[in-house]
Amino acid sequence: MRNETVVPIERLKEEPFASVLCYPKCGSAELEERLEEMQNLNVEAIEFAGKTSVFNVPVLGKGHVGIVVIGHTKGKRIALKIRRVDADRNGLQHEARMLTIANSVLVGPQLGDVSQNFLLTQFIKGEVITEWLGGNIEEACLRRVLEEVLEQCWRLDSVALDHGELSHAPKHLIIDKEEKPFIVDFETASTKRRPANVTSICQFLFVGGFPSLKVEEVLGKRVTSEIVEAARLYKKLRSRSNFESLLQTCLV
Ligand SMILES: Nc1ncnc2c1ncn2[C@@H]1O[C@H](COP(=O)(O)OP(=O)(O)O)[C@@H](O)[C@H]1O
Ligand SMILES: [Mg+2]
Repeated sequence: MRNETVVPIERLKEEPFASVLCYPKCGSAELEERLEEMQNLNVEAIEFAGKTSVFNVPVLGKGHVGIVVIGHTKGKRIALKIRRVDADRNGLQHEARMLTIANSVLVGPQLGDVSQNFLLTQFIKGEVITEWLGGNIEEACLRRVLEEVLEQCWRLDSVALDHGELSHAPKHLIIDKEEKPFIVDFETASTKRRPANVTSICQFLFVGGFPSLKVEEVLGKRVTSEIVEAARLYKKLRSRSNFESLLQTCLV
């Protein structure tokens, strides 16, 4: 990788940038179309930075559907999801629709713009939850963050939007520099499934696995069977009082 990290749109035709734009395989017609799409979205440059690497180029993240990089538009830094050429989705409009619903209850990065191959959202500068949990966290801070995560999941449940990837998806929860949690990637979200955000995230955070070990280390040992039972009751009846009992059981 060359020294510069901010690459203006005119230079994105060069390798290895072109291959990142059309991951995993770059065709010249596809590249031209994508560059035009980016221009229409007012993306002026891409900043290659992040902990993941694609063709030796640092990026924010890589999933089954997209490569996420920092984009520069109108003097602002945004997160730019680039649809993979091999994605089993024709466009990113579905994700934009799902994110709009999430945003309506103040969940997820703010949606900026969308086209077939690009999704512009608020750039969340922070660490994914597993990384964040690996650091030194004070008890009050951990309690606050976990409560906020559960409240966000409650709001998603309330608008019947199921994220779909919260039970085993450490990459979909980013904690920013102000210790505010953000749920990302609404690509597999749906309004047609029964929402299971609260129960999925409880499973991930409190029942088995690395997150629960860290939670117990900082907040003290909790009784898994009580959490499982409170989650079962909430699943049966998604009421605020059942949610609050679950919250209490998780965060005693
Ligand atoms: N708005 C964002 N700000 C910062 N990083 C992000 C943002 N959106 C996604 N990422 C990072 O990029 C990774 C891949 O994005 P994701 O939306 O999960 O793509 P995919 O749909 O391909 O799985 C995420 O796991 C996350 O680490
Ligand atoms: Mg993902």
